Amino acid sequence: MKLTDDEKAMLDGKEGKTVQRAMDFLIRYGEALGAERLVDTNNVGGYLIATRDNYHKASGNFDTVFSFTGLDSTETLELPKVKAYSTQLETDMDLEYYELQGKDIEDYNRYRANEQYLANIGIHLMCTCTPYLVGNVPVKGEHCAWMESSAVVYINSVLGARTNCEGNASSTASMLTGKTPYWGFHTDEHRLGTHLIQVEHEVQGMMEWGLLGYFAGKAVGEKVPVFDGIRHIPRRDDLKQFGAATASSGGVEMYHIPGITADAKTVQEAFGGKKPLYTLQYGAAERRAAYEQLNMLGSNRDVDFVMFGCPHNSLEQTWEICKMLEGKHIKDGSSLWILMPRALKDTATRNGFTRIIEAAGGVIMSDTCPALGRIMPKGTKVMATNSAKQAHYLPSIMGIESWYGTTQECINAAITGRWEGELK
Ligand code: F3S
Repeated sequence: MKLTDDEKAMLDGKEGKTVQRAMDFLIRYGEALGAERLVDTNNVGGYLIATRDNYHKASGNFDTVFSFTGLDSTETLELPKVKAYSTQLETDMDLEYYELQGKDIEDYNRYRANEQYLANIGIHLMCTCTPYLVGNVPVKGEHCAWMESSAVVYINSVLGARTNCEGNASSTASMLTGKTPYWGFHTDEHRLGTHLIQVEHEVQGMMEWGLLGYFAGKAVGEKVPVFDGIRHIPRRDDLKQFGAATASSGGVEMYHIPGITADAKTVQEAFGGKKPLYTLQYGAAERRAAYEQLNMLGSNRDVDFVMFGCPHNSLEQTWEICKMLEGKHIKDGSSLWILMPRALKDTATRNGFTRIIEAAGGVIMSDTCPALGRIMPKGTKVMATNSAKQAHYLPSIMGIESWYGTTQECINAAITGRWEGELK
């Protein structure tokens, strides 16, 4: 790999042993991927959380934990202040609701100390999978190094930023060096479309975008789909749910909706003038199949848990929920969790949203989610959600049944305790 002078200096240890180790890791990782050089980044999204197990194993020393999980080192290295602007993504608990989430005081104390450690080394504690909703909005062409598949596909496609889906170690190394391997979605070539999806069914509203995304991810795997035939301009939250769905049923990190997403104005431009490798249709049959797959694990219609906010909710989504919920109450014995970035929860509270949701028997949580934190209301058997991603993952992670549908259908299920959703 060709290194610049500043990269050589880091590799030679001029900035200390930890940065040297981080640079060594990035070079090995980049070479394994075929990268010929590194590129500067000043926007890294990572996930530095000590689990209960590794925290105990390291006798409560965060440097030991993160040397291992973040730098691939069994030797304890002291993490210096980060060099790149770095964001902590979603975490595994909400300090305000730790008991409701089934955590104990020991978890609470570990997590508080973990946050303090991260703040001390300069990591911004946004603690959400949607940092682009709360101020970290990369510009078109900006080289980033982000984890979290739903955020990666959003910033690559909608914003035109450039990132691969990074892991713990590579994002930590990028935080410390301000570098990332130049390969994959950092390059023009890799961003070109591979599959053309001709959309022949109306796609409007979040549930429909989730279905199209779920179909597309399954159909293209890790390739780059280009969608033609979209007749209604999606809202930002439609694209948020859509991208998360493509990255759940498949491993999509980038897509094009020419004229709407950032990189291409026309289908031809999205393919760089080349022919698509495959052309697929999305019509009534494909839509129904996606719906049935997402509801495959629902048999019991008695719902005891309704969950919104995967990826974390925007203010608008929470406002929509409040309009449907105001003056009503969820069924006794059911739970309603709404997940949103903490920075937005303050505004939600000011707007009266928290009061409406709590009066109805629900809660607004931040920082985490059921799939990532492995948390659910005690005794949950059947969930309903408007998120294709959560409907895809949570049943297998937590061994429950789930239903996928519109926000209104989920609210109805929270109020009545019964799932009456259907594909119209
Ligand atoms: Fe976010 Fe959890 Fe969904 S991290 S994207 S809410 S699985």
